[in-house]
Amino acid sequence: MYRILIANGVNLDLLGARPSAFYGSQSLSELEKFLKNQVPALEIFLHVKLSLTFFQSNDEASFLEKLSENWHAAVINPGAWTHTSVALADRLEALALPFVEVHLSQLARREPWRKKSHSAKHAVGVLYGFSFDSYLLGLQGIIRHLQVQNGGVVPPIAGG
Ligand code: DQA
Repeated sequence: MYRILIANGVNLDLLGARPSAFYGSQSLSELEKFLKNQVPALEIFLHVKLSLTFFQSNDEASFLEKLSENWHAAVINPGAWTHTSVALADRLEALALPFVEVHLSQLARREPWRKKSHSAKHAVGVLYGFSFDSYLLGLQGIIRHLQVQNGGVVPPIAGG
């Protein structure tokens, strides 16, 4: 069983009310429902058991502390903290937490300051531009990473 944190940072509670050209029109609870609905298929596809925990906070201290709980891995969208928070980057560097950084929007097409992520260099990988699918693809990627790290035989992709 892999315990995986899906962590959304500042202002991602406002999904659905934010500019739809970047973030779509669906809410955070719809994102969580979308991911929950994918779990049975992912478990078959990747030969794993998953326990997902969803967390969102606008309070940076609570966000940082949540990362220190007992997770095998995390999918993290830090929101604007991506571009501003040295504290988040320092914590992610210090924690032995494999994580994937995800963003809904295609950051390379946006303001230049959004291209800078303090945290990305500590991530196993980064996915952006795929809306809700950034999370799904990131989740898949981090599970495959755990399977490789946990050694031995990497389960084949289902059907392969
Ligand atoms: C975001 C991109 C950030 O630049 C922005 O501040 C967000 C959301 C995204 O998911 O595209 O809040 O992380």
